[in-house]
Parts: sequence; C-alpha cells; structure tokens
Amino acid sequence: MKTFKALESAKTEQGNKISIIEKNIDDLPEGELLIKVNYSSLNYKDALSASGSPGVTRTYPHTPGIDAVGFIEESTDANFKEGDCVIVTGYDLGMNTSGGFGQYIRVPSSWAVMLPSGLSDRDSMCLGTAGLTAGLSIQALDDFNGNQGFESSSSIVTGSTGGVGSIAVMLLSKLSSSVTAVTGKESEKALLQSLGASEVISREELAEISRTPIGKTIWDFGVDVVSGNILTLLLASLKPGGAVACSGLVGGPSFESSIFPFILRGNALLGIDSVEIPLHKKLQVWERFASDWKLDLSALVREVKLEELEKEISTILDGGQVGRVLVDLN
Ligand SMILES: NC(=O)c1ccc[n+]([C@@H]2O[C@H](COP(=O)([O-])OP(=O)(O)OC[C@H]3O[C@@H](n4cnc5c(N)ncnc54)[C@H](OP(=O)(O)O)[C@@H]3O)[C@@H](O)[C@H]2O)c1
Repeated sequence: MKTFKALESAKTEQGNKISIIEKNIDDLPEGELLIKVNYSSLNYKDALSASGSPGVTRTYPHTPGIDAVGFIEESTDANFKEGDCVIVTGYDLGMNTSGGFGQYIRVPSSWAVMLPSGLSDRDSMCLGTAGLTAGLSIQALDDFNGNQGFESSSSIVTGSTGGVGSIAVMLLSKLSSSVTAVTGKESEKALLQSLGASEVISREELAEISRTPIGKTIWDFGVDVVSGNILTLLLASLKPGGAVACSGLVGGPSFESSIFPFILRGNALLGIDSVEIPLHKKLQVWERFASDWKLDLSALVREVKLEELEKEISTILDGGQVGRVLVDLN
C-alpha cells in the first residue's frame, strides 16, 4: 500500500490541531489525475481551512492547500499523460478535496493546466493563487480601461506586504504604473520600495489623504484585498474613469460607499474570483507570467517544508505575513 506525507488538520475540543501524518494514496478522492506534488504555497484561505474557520472546510480531518504543481503519475484522461507537469489551483482543491499540503493529490482533469513553457514549477508556486489573483486583478483593470496599459498611470495597492498585494505592487510597477503601497507594517517600507512602490503609506495616512463620501482624485487604479474602511477610502479617491479590483476581505466582509464615485466619475468596482473561473482564464494569466509579466520573486519568497508550516499559518492569520511562503514537498 503506497503512503505519502501530508499535513492534516483535525478538530479537537481545544480547536483544530495540526500534525504531519502518513496518508494512504487509496484514500484520496476519485479523479482522472494522480499528481505527485512538487510544490505548494501558503495562502490566507489555507490558514482559514487549517484553523477550522467556519465556511471554508466542512469535514475534518483534512489536508489543506489550494495550490499545487507537480508531475502526473496516473491519468485516465487522454489529454494528459504520465510525466506532464501541471498546475492545479482553486476549485475544491484544499477546501473539501485533499490539497497541496500533501505529497499526492488526485483531482478531476478539468482542474489542471499544463505548466507553460517559460515558467518553472517552483516559480508557478512562488506566484500561486496569490499571484494568479494579482494577475487577474490587473488584467481586469486593463480590460476596463480599454487595454491601454498602465504607462503614466497611478495606482494604489492595499495589504501590500501580503501575497496578493506584494505581487500586485511588483506587476503594476513593472507595467510602468506609479504605485502607492498601503501597509500596516512600517518596518517593511524598504522592501515595498524594492518591489517597485514609489510611495509607501500607512492605513492611517490613507484615511487622512482620502475623504468620504467623495474626495480628491488621486489614483487611476486600485488593487484591494482588505475591504472594509480601506475599500471605502479607495473608491472615494479614484480619478474619473478609474477602477478598483477587489478580491479579499482581511479587513472584514462589509464596506460602505456612496453612489458618487460611480455616477460623478464613472468609477467601477471589479470583483475578482480566482477560484471558480473557467480554466482557460487561469491559463491566460499563467502564460503571461511565463512571458511578458515575468517577475523575479526571489526577494519575496521563503521556502519551507511541511513541518514548518504550522507557525506560518499562525503568522498569516495574524496579518503578519510578508511576501509568499513556498512549500517544498520533495
Ligand atoms: N477572490 C479570490 O479569488 C482570492 C484569491 C486570493 C486571496 N483572496 C483573499 O485576499 C485576501 C488576501 O490574501 P493573501 O493571500 O494576500 O493574504 P496575506 O498574505 O495574509 O496578505 C494580507 C495582507 O493584508 C494586510 N492586512 C492584514 N490584516 C489586515 C487588517 N485587519 N486590515 C487591513 N489590512 C490588513 C496585511 O498587509 P499590510 O500589513 O502590508 O497592510 C497582510 O499581509 C484574503 O482575504 C484572501 O482570502 C481572494
């Protein structure tokens, strides 16, 4: 009987408990592809699943990990063969399907994209769902703006030291936007500048600069992962025709706004989903990261083994994570 190593979260009376266990390949769910996972990455949602937060994972014990890249070991789909390297992110992976924090996953072939040439398996997980979401956000902003690109634009990114935020800062800067990074971590100002931020401000400074219900016109584009009051402030400070792409809720699920940005300035709020969108839309973004959006993420990434993940999970839940955590399953 073939076994593999995995992180498992189990419910106990004292809350969820994390341990590293041996799992049996036969216990994986059904699916066309059996994949030997090389790398995964840590996202905020993984931490919610691992800690038993309501509304993420229904049944425990469970192996989280919404991201995985690896080689196919068995395939019953003619479009994939043994040895192909594939990326799987989102859908039900790591939610209620055993996820990338294990050395093997078995998934439907409809969840897998071929790793594009020009992108290494390791780099794909340095990006992970966070990178995919940053890419989708920037794609949505560009589409809204008639695909004119970002040259001479000004943009603002919230949660900027986190996974989605840090990659959004890098990508917008690479695309020649002048990026304001909003952060709660004054100590990371130099890092954010090295990623390409031309200005770094605190959440409090944002509240001083921006006025609600409608304030000065400052930014063309926003990438927001926080929601709450921060999103309220961003919407009130866009230039005419500007837009905010929102994907997260680390600051809470609700926000207030008024009709003014929408009817006086033609602003838009663009919702970003990286999980359930059609596979070809994910592939488009991976292909861009393999070509014209190629980023050097080495300054942003820390590589850990499964055994080191528990403390990283606590850090991300506390809002203390900086950059990306790559999980090496080899
Ligand atoms: N829609 C989608 O498909 C999708 C995909 C990926 C992620 N998400 C969501 O996006 C959010 C960010 O994910 P992530 O993986 O980037 O998480 P992350 O790495 O933990 O980054 C979040 C960052 O937000 C800031 N932050 C944390 N708590 C805050 C608070 N209470 N108020 C204001 N800012 C706070 C911190 O950055 P600073 O200290 O620099 O401010 C933190 O590093 C999560 O809500 C996640 O669920 C959604």
